[in-house]
Amino acid sequence: MKTTGNTILITGGNSGIGRALAEAFHQLGNKVIISGRRQDTLDEVTAANPGMAALPVDMGDAAGIKAFAEQVLREHPGLNVVLHSAGIMKREDLSQAPDYLATAEETIATNLLGLIRLTAALLPHLVGQKDAALVTVSSGLAFVPLATTPTYSATKAAIHSYSMGIRHQLNDTPVQVIEIAPPYVRTGLMGERQANDQNAMPLEDFITEVMAILTNQPEVEEVIVERCRPLRHAAENGKVRDMFDMLVSLNH
Ligand SMILES: NC(=O)c1ccc[n+]([C@@H]2O[C@H](COP(=O)([O-])OP(=O)(O)OC[C@H]3O[C@@H](n4cnc5c(N)ncnc54)[C@H](OP(=O)(O)O)[C@@H]3O)[C@@H](O)[C@H]2O)c1
Repeated sequence: MKTTGNTILITGGNSGIGRALAEAFHQLGNKVIISGRRQDTLDEVTAANPGMAALPVDMGDAAGIKAFAEQVLREHPGLNVVLHSAGIMKREDLSQAPDYLATAEETIATNLLGLIRLTAALLPHLVGQKDAALVTVSSGLAFVPLATTPTYSATKAAIHSYSMGIRHQLNDTPVQVIEIAPPYVRTGLMGERQANDQNAMPLEDFITEVMAILTNQPEVEEVIVERCRPLRHAAENGKVRDMFDMLVSLNH
């Protein structure tokens, strides 16, 4: 994809990886629109980045996504890139039914159905745009699941599969499909502990590596930073079980 001259919608752009990518694209002179549920953090990010726009949406709400997509296109008819960073990751303890089921359903609605619904709502517009791109955010856990977050890991494996499938179907259109699979990164995704965990990749380092890959490899299909390679290539290296057990031991 081009890294300049775009109009980019970034879901989850008010926090963590989404915010950092929004700011990186904004600094490169792109028109950036961020979304998320929390109006206070949307306001905070736009105030810190003059010219950036924000619109709230709940990615778990099908009707809300449809109305949101219509509003985005009304207000930003030049939209040519959508980057799906919105997501939740919660521990899923099977002994805690029905809480476990509620978490699993919320995770699928937000991470997977929300992404598919917003893609469906915006795709008819994107196929008519020059230099269009759909950017999904999966995870290293798409390739080796984390035992304590089975549904989360499943949504990320599904996003990987979905990205491959739509990339093929959109081959003859201007829409490029790019999957970013982050490793464990220092954000508040699972709370304060992760945000301060020295074992997590510093957010700035992750964003620098991602932006370098996007800039230097405009045709890239999967953005896999160095730290994520062992997970991404675990299957072809015959290491899925070893890495699964290693994640269990780190995460007990
Ligand atoms: N950090 C990591 O280690 C890591 C690793 C692999 C993949 N990822 C993926 O990277 C993406 C970003 O995560 P992050 O690490 O940046 O965590 P984060 O700081 O918690 O960001 C998550 C974002 O998603 C938004 N969001 C959550 N639920 C939403 C909903 N129902 N509707 C609309 N927006 C919603 C949040 O905004 P609101 O709360 O305002 O709604 C927030 O902006 C996620 O897809 C995550 O799975 C992260």
